[in-house]
Amino acid sequence: MPENKQVLLEQIKADIIKNNVCPNLAREAKNLVMGDGNIDAEIVIIGEAPGKKEDELGLPFMGAAGKFLNEMLDSVGIARKDVFITNIVKYRPPKNRDPSKIEKAEFWPYLLRQLDVIQPKVVVTLGRHSMGYFLPQAHICDVHGQSSKVEIDSLKLTVVPLYHPAAALYRRSMREALIDDFKNLPKIIRNINN
Ligand code: URA
Repeated sequence: MPENKQVLLEQIKADIIKNNVCPNLAREAKNLVMGDGNIDAEIVIIGEAPGKKEDELGLPFMGAAGKFLNEMLDSVGIARKDVFITNIVKYRPPKNRDPSKIEKAEFWPYLLRQLDVIQPKVVVTLGRHSMGYFLPQAHICDVHGQSSKVEIDSLKLTVVPLYHPAAALYRRSMREALIDDFKNLPKIIRNINN
């Protein structure tokens, strides 16, 4: 029922505004960046928070990190339009600072609602900020690229934590690890489907 899903996703956005989530961020942000892509996707990719470009355009991963993400998706034959991309924090933190614990906690229930509507098979987290909520005990350097089954409330997900493309852009070893981990994604998805 895609129409229904769209309505439910719009309701989540309306609730974030109505509930005045993170007013300190909302005050300075140009846009509430809810996410973009296929609402029936098998894969939901979750980053940290919008940056300057994303805030201006109202869409996630539109800058340099987004370009790198698009290249990696392309390289493994996954079209960006076939996945859904969002962030744990949906307003830009001023000067692109890290989102705070409180900001992440405030947005977390709304991210869960998005996942509950979309019902993906796989959640790919980019960087430690989104990973921390799905795999609280994990260290990204130990677990990147490995899939884990996670149950949160009624949601059953396979979570694949990856390095954040913005961090990997400028660090060669991380970049290589991220590209390698991406190459494994189609196999992980095939295994879930079989
Ligand atoms: N980095 C993120 O984590 N999210 C974006 O949307 C853009 C850059």
